[in-house]
Amino acid sequence: MPIFERHVFICENFREKGHPRGSCGDKGGEQIRELFKQSLEKRGLKGRMRANKAGCLDQCEIGPTVVIYPEGVWYGLVRTAADVEEIIEQHLLGGKVVERLAFSRDASGKLVRGNAG
Ligand code: FES
Repeated sequence: MPIFERHVFICENFREKGHPRGSCGDKGGEQIRELFKQSLEKRGLKGRMRANKAGCLDQCEIGPTVVIYPEGVWYGLVRTAADVEEIIEQHLLGGKVVERLAFSRDASGKLVRGNAG
């Protein structure tokens, strides 16, 4: 049995101002991780599911970037408390991907909206 049913990694990386790829830290990654953490605790999910801070996940253009395991589903542009609540309710608890915030790569490696997996 896995230690956590679902494990959420949220990028909080900062880059120097003006970097062409931007960074999740500049777009509120730390606050997003805090919102995940607080909501999981409030819902009594602490111990079953965990939100951890991550360094750069190399998907900076769509930051703040979030990835959830074991599914390996990627989310981008996660910017509000409502986004966090939707991911917790629909994905973490309901097992259903939040398509409007999901990202994947097409055959050419280009980032595209939606979960290809
Ligand atoms: S800075 Fe967050 S994915 Fe690169």
